[in-house]
Amino acid sequence: MNINKFLKISVLVCGSIVTAQTKSTISVDTKQPSSIISKHIYGHFAEHLGRGIYDGIYVGENSKIPNSNGVRKDIINALKELKIPNLRWPGGCFADTYHWKDGIGPKNLRPTIVNNWWGGNTEDNSFGTHEFLNLAEELGTEPYLAGNVGSGEVKELSDWVQYTGKDTKSPMTDLRKQNGRDKSWNVKIWGVGNEMWGCGGNMAPEYYANLYKQYATFMTDWTNSDKLFRVASGANVDDYHWTEVLMRDIPRNMIEGVALHSYSFVKWDQKGDAVDYNEAQYFATMKTALKMDELVTKHSQIMDKYDPEKKTALVVDEWGGWYEVEKGTNPGFLYQQNTMRDAMIAGVTLNIFNNHSDRVRMANLAQTVNVLQAVILTKGEKMILTPTYHVLNLYKAHQDAKLIPLQIESPEYKLNGESLKAVSASASEKDGVVTISLVNIDAKNTVETSINLKDFSKKVFTAKIISSPKIQDHNTFDNPNVIEPKEYKKIKTTKDILTVEVPPFSVVVLTSK
Ligand code: AHR
Repeated sequence: MNINKFLKISVLVCGSIVTAQTKSTISVDTKQPSSIISKHIYGHFAEHLGRGIYDGIYVGENSKIPNSNGVRKDIINALKELKIPNLRWPGGCFADTYHWKDGIGPKNLRPTIVNNWWGGNTEDNSFGTHEFLNLAEELGTEPYLAGNVGSGEVKELSDWVQYTGKDTKSPMTDLRKQNGRDKSWNVKIWGVGNEMWGCGGNMAPEYYANLYKQYATFMTDWTNSDKLFRVASGANVDDYHWTEVLMRDIPRNMIEGVALHSYSFVKWDQKGDAVDYNEAQYFATMKTALKMDELVTKHSQIMDKYDPEKKTALVVDEWGGWYEVEKGTNPGFLYQQNTMRDAMIAGVTLNIFNNHSDRVRMANLAQTVNVLQAVILTKGEKMILTPTYHVLNLYKAHQDAKLIPLQIESPEYKLNGESLKAVSASASEKDGVVTISLVNIDAKNTVETSINLKDFSKKVFTAKIISSPKIQDHNTFDNPNVIEPKEYKKIKTTKDILTVEVPPFSVVVLTSK
């Protein structure tokens, strides 16, 4: 057997499984400009969908489950720990069916709403504007409200802006006071519709760009003295024409963000099980996750053409893994388990966003509780934190930190004639602490990663790891701590070279001492 210095083969217990060790090198890219990694890249998304809000976040004041104004206390604590910077609500597709005035005032007088897109169930509107904004306040997170453009009206959205963000006397602020809230919640972040190319109204970009301008005009005044952050409904994956038209047709002073939605999956029409998947399906999922790099690069290039000063942010307000729903659950509820594959998606996607933080200044993982790539799953009184939660918890050190651009030489992760870069990384510095996040997506090979510390301000690091023996491993309600971060000792520093053994499908986060 030919063993060269880059390849060390070791045979594991079960004779047929062979793991190899390959090498990766990382150093600071001193030629690349730096940027601040906006904390808003670490945003979340809670839609009225399945068990996301009702029976997830919100159980009602009369529930036996400990709650604060109807919101589960265990969820509040878990999200506080994550330091979520913003929370998008009420949709998603649901947003363009939602009429906010149906969700204020005495709960027994609120009309019902049929959740047309997601399961067709009837909701009682007991979780509305006050309940959501009070929750955001309790979490210390910025609310990101998605306005109804598809089936709403200009006045409806401008009234919502007044109701939630203004203190000047007006019919809307009087109404808010009548409903028990004196001071506004100072809401600044607004989505102007959602997926207008699809569930938001099946519009052409030119038509939506005009509509956007109309809505955006009446949300504020001549100069946007309210400093609203208005996000236009953006492209579906690689629909670059959509971004082009919005950037071309909407004046810079009317648009603070352009959205982008892109999910990770095996095949869109054959998504496969969330837990019971094989390596080929894992590989296919990682391929779509890594495509995010190409997507943000190309959408950013179009934005650069119209906005070289990078005034308008690229807002990836829906991203994450999407599989078949758990067997026996409502197909419209999008409930899925969360395995080490999801930890990989989270790790590589957040590295991509960090590394593109000059333009990507906000993002929202879909979704917070019990829906798609959730950070929290609930079952009755029980609640578990998913592998994705733990990745976000380790990565929170990057929030509002200064990006340290990296040069990364990675071995290839190969399967069935295709290959992907095995190692992804990003680094940042904040308050004198350097954080380096490493991900190895290779399902079989450990990567020995050598980080040249020459251009780093810190030389001594500790490490934490998220890893597990099987890629399909996950936390369950009976066994909630299968996957959680652990101290990691397989790092050593010799003469300014920090060497880290990054096991197959693992996330390692290094923190300077
Ligand atoms: O996140 C689930 C759905 O995915 C959202 O409602 C929609 O915006 C997207 O298609």
